[in-house]
Amino acid sequence: MNILGISCFFHDAAAALVQDGIVTAAAEEERFSRIKHDTSFQMLAMEFCLRTAKLRGEDLDWVVFYEKPFVKFDRILKSTLQTYPWSFRVFREAMVKWLAEKLWIKGLIRKHVGISAEKILFSSHHLSHAASTFYCSPWSEAAILAVDGVGEWATATYGIGRDRDIELLGELRFPHSLGLLYSVFTAFLGFEVNEGEYKVMGMAPYGTPKYADEVWKLVQLHDDGGFSLDMTYFSYHHSPDKAFNAKFERLFGTPRNPKSHFFTESSGYPAYFGDKPANYHELCRRNQYYADIAASIQLVTEDILLTMVRAIHRKTDLRRLCLAGGVALNSAANGRILRETPFEELYVQPAAGDGGGAIGAALYVYHAVLGHQRKYVMKHAYLGEDHSEADIKAFLDKNGVRYECIEDDDRLIERVVEALLQGKVIGWSKGRFEWGPRALGNRSILADPRRASMKDIVNTKIKFREPYRPFAPSVLVERAAEYYELKDPEHHYPARFMLLVVPVKESKRQVVPAPTHVDGTARLQTVFRDTNPGYYRLIETFDKATGVPVVLNTSFNLKGEPIVNTPAEAFSTFYRSGMDMLVLDHFIVEKS
Ligand SMILES: [Fe+2]
Repeated sequence: MNILGISCFFHDAAAALVQDGIVTAAAEEERFSRIKHDTSFQMLAMEFCLRTAKLRGEDLDWVVFYEKPFVKFDRILKSTLQTYPWSFRVFREAMVKWLAEKLWIKGLIRKHVGISAEKILFSSHHLSHAASTFYCSPWSEAAILAVDGVGEWATATYGIGRDRDIELLGELRFPHSLGLLYSVFTAFLGFEVNEGEYKVMGMAPYGTPKYADEVWKLVQLHDDGGFSLDMTYFSYHHSPDKAFNAKFERLFGTPRNPKSHFFTESSGYPAYFGDKPANYHELCRRNQYYADIAASIQLVTEDILLTMVRAIHRKTDLRRLCLAGGVALNSAANGRILRETPFEELYVQPAAGDGGGAIGAALYVYHAVLGHQRKYVMKHAYLGEDHSEADIKAFLDKNGVRYECIEDDDRLIERVVEALLQGKVIGWSKGRFEWGPRALGNRSILADPRRASMKDIVNTKIKFREPYRPFAPSVLVERAAEYYELKDPEHHYPARFMLLVVPVKESKRQVVPAPTHVDGTARLQTVFRDTNPGYYRLIETFDKATGVPVVLNTSFNLKGEPIVNTPAEAFSTFYRSGMDMLVLDHFIVEKS
């Protein structure tokens, strides 16, 4: 049985193919269209899924859309009418966009997939989120929490998953939203909403949460674990382009200028910013304020989430939690859930945001609607497109690129480790690209984690990434507990997907300074031999040479671009950056 799940028109558009209960292909549209966070109809991702399984549209048994467009349209109409006339522009824009395209998704699917209307099903937004985490988890019973900006009406939903069924037990509704609260501060701190949230998370360790009391003025916690927002500070419910209002600015001051560089005394001033300005210390002081705001919203977000999670534990009395929604990508919060709530284990699916809804929608139909047994666990995220050796060679030959082909894996890895030891920065592209926003060793940029200077070098070489942008350590799972405060690392799935921030052991902070955050934590990736043998072997060889089972890993892309997919994109990124070596499967390209 072939079920295609799709999500589009809101955040990340994506498609996922479930064949007899197993996810065989999944990808976000941005990897093909090269438009970051592409929300348009997921034509290219869908074609990739069909191509991978050698199927045609008419071979699909079902196509499932991840939400209910009419219910969502109803929410937009009702919420804008409540705030009319302030919301006139939102109302007008919604009418134009929704009536022109978004409402008629069924027709679009029929036209582009070529299947009949009765084979097209609709899930609901938070049910898709819930299904995307529970059915990918290894557990037959778990509590579930989905938290995001907003779906149709729900902004947070909890429930219980048991075997093939999911029961949703309660929800919070728009406009009271933890995801939107975080996004408001993302906008205040000068970043693009739906894109810059991880930058706020990266900035937070450079500040102290001095303004948490001010942030709490916007939020009222309820006894049942829910909360409400004081909407007199916000305008996202009636404005298409302003998230907060003058009252918010009276409390938090002037928003950060999006065009200004961000640096503080502790972040350092990277070489690529040019000469230090005359008012450097004044700018550091000003930026420190924004870092403190980032730390404050991060702390309040974590505390609200922990309150919700503890309440869910009281209500369900279960020991395992499956988390989903954009907020589940907040890996610092995930670390605190594990350390500070009674839940003993946590599962987060790598594409926890709206892209992941495509997988959830398809798996929900397979298990809950059609009643099929579960047989799948998402242990890795390598579900994207692969490129054959022949294609890579053809590309290199056609473009006259000088390369070396090393068929022997051990020799190839030794060459790469040698380069890492010389302080070189490597573009590493092998196998199928990753599902979700993180590079997990198939489309990664790698460097020696022992050199503190590597952070600045990598930032500079890969074109002016912000100095607070964190790098991740990829560590052999069996050795992770030596370096990181994480007991039984093999049990913690979020760490496989780089979705867990944990403290680095005091004694190891100086051993691996480059991927250790300023506050002594790291967003680690545990690497397993069975799910990525090539990457595992690379780290193992690095360990043999240095005694350190860790490499620095960051995503293979330039600032503002999606992570690379094809050999051509990998080469172009390598060429336009200061990377020293490019590995495309068995082919090595070096800059002379
Ligand atoms: Fe969502």
